[in-house]
Amino acid sequence: MANNLAWLDEAWQKVNDKVKRTSKKIGPNFPHASLNGSYQLEAPSWWTAGFWPGLLWLVYRETKDESFREIAEQCEEKLDRVITDYYKLDHDMGFMWTLTSVARYKLLGEEDSKRRGLLVANLLMGRFNAKGNYIRAWNPWFEGDDNSGLAIIDCLMNLPLLFWATEITGDPRYSIVAKKHGETVLEHFIRKDGSVHHIIRFDPETGERVEAIGGQGFASESAWSRGAAWAVYGLSLLYKHTNEEKYLQATKNVSHFFIANLPEDDVPHWDFRLPENITKHRDSSAGAIAACGLLLLADQVSSTEAGIYKEAGTKILKSLYENYGAWENEQEDGLILEGTSHYPEGKNIDVPLIYGDYYFVEGLATLKGNRELFW
Ligand code: GLY
Repeated sequence: MANNLAWLDEAWQKVNDKVKRTSKKIGPNFPHASLNGSYQLEAPSWWTAGFWPGLLWLVYRETKDESFREIAEQCEEKLDRVITDYYKLDHDMGFMWTLTSVARYKLLGEEDSKRRGLLVANLLMGRFNAKGNYIRAWNPWFEGDDNSGLAIIDCLMNLPLLFWATEITGDPRYSIVAKKHGETVLEHFIRKDGSVHHIIRFDPETGERVEAIGGQGFASESAWSRGAAWAVYGLSLLYKHTNEEKYLQATKNVSHFFIANLPEDDVPHWDFRLPENITKHRDSSAGAIAACGLLLLADQVSSTEAGIYKEAGTKILKSLYENYGAWENEQEDGLILEGTSHYPEGKNIDVPLIYGDYYFVEGLATLKGNRELFW
């Protein structure tokens, strides 16, 4: 049962053992998806760069194992050249530096990490479109590409960097921008039934909404489960940082949709609204992300309501541990199997994903009682 947490210590031990081994192989690099058992490395500018060092910080926080700290710090230092190469940076700098510089600053008070975090928060501010009240997602992917009007649901997870910058500097501009983007999400991304759009295109000159785009989901009106998970956690964090009721209602709405659409083993398919002829691969990463959001939501509501969210988040994590964990397989770098990164592009389907691993470990740490979030 979800409230019997005997499995938790066992799961945490297995994470520790496995990360101790894989950290020697992966080192200060930037894994994304594990193919045939080996984590494939990405350039440090790729949006997933923060998850491996972030995972190491989570384990370091409990174990104080210096080898994890050293690797996480080396990763952070490697990211410096991404800052100077700034044209490659997109809105996901929030993910990248929250789990490296902000994490290190929160854990160890390192001044240089504070400086990096604030520098990047300023770069993120520069992506705000004041007419449409959204943070622009990406840079052109190819010559002639104009995506200056695109905003995506995932960006909710980039906002905590801005709230942190306001907390550190006392300057409200950062949180004002985060809240403006949050209001745009409520108005344009969340459907009445609690499902979400992945991408919305705005006219960057007038700020008018142009269209919804399917993105990594099956279609513009389907329900990409990782997008839903970003919304569960991102809106829960928005409520934590603002205390504004509208975000509490919104995170409950998307959480209810997410929970109601989980299959029997509590680990979501990659899209909740798929036609019969499309394979319903799992996306374990969506489960791990949503579990963290549900546990945070449980902490922010009355004890009568908390049980629903705590139980749902715990059941997801327990199922990931029992049914999707790659614990005994020494030939597999990943912790959690069956993530799906980008089905429409046929990329990384049914494989471990570093963000699935990260959020799984964050969820376990939260269940163990460590509620201090990097976000
Ligand atoms: N932020 C991109 C993704 O969730 O795949």
